[in-house]
Amino acid sequence: MYVPPQLDHILIQAEQIRKRIEVLGDTITRDYTSSEAPLTCVVVLRGSILFAADLLRQLALPVRLVTIRASSYGAGTSSSGQVTVTPSEPVDFSHSPVLLIDDILDTGRTLQHLRQWAVEHHADSVKSCILLDKPSRREIPVKADYVGFTVPDAFVIGYGLDLNEEFRNLPYIGVLKPEFIP
Ligand code: PRP
Repeated sequence: MYVPPQLDHILIQAEQIRKRIEVLGDTITRDYTSSEAPLTCVVVLRGSILFAADLLRQLALPVRLVTIRASSYGAGTSSSGQVTVTPSEPVDFSHSPVLLIDDILDTGRTLQHLRQWAVEHHADSVKSCILLDKPSRREIPVKADYVGFTVPDAFVIGYGLDLNEEFRNLPYIGVLKPEFIP
């Protein structure tokens, strides 16, 4: 197994992720099984790619896939300001249920904005599925409907999460050594 030297320790093993996604997939399938319209899964690039690819294969439902970029601008950290949503193509949810899929819930700004954005684009309902929840970092009081794991306020990489665009390919989630934190 590839363990980069920047890694302090593994927080969540690949097998734990796999098992948790099976449970999430079963739960989401059960919750939407009586929906008349297909479930539109909105995948927030880039960090959610691995999570979404595994989760979607666990959904025994009619599903549509939409990808978007969500960028935060403003003073201070990258999460501190206004959120801009850029879909890969024009979006109209046509009164179907929407599931937002993201890798991490931090300050809550992105999720709050995406919920509003989905409603403005005619979502019938909006729920969210987040792989990692960092409640200690929350600035906006939002909660995800489905959460993979609740994690401490550590710099996590792997399984989609990056440091300067690297390490998204790790099959597990690890904690970065303090000396590498930007
Ligand atoms: C991360 C994550 C969420 C957002 C959460 O994206 O994927 O979209 O930050 O932060 P918030 O709760 O403070 O708003 P990031 O900007 O790191 O982009 P990436 O997925 O391309 O790495």
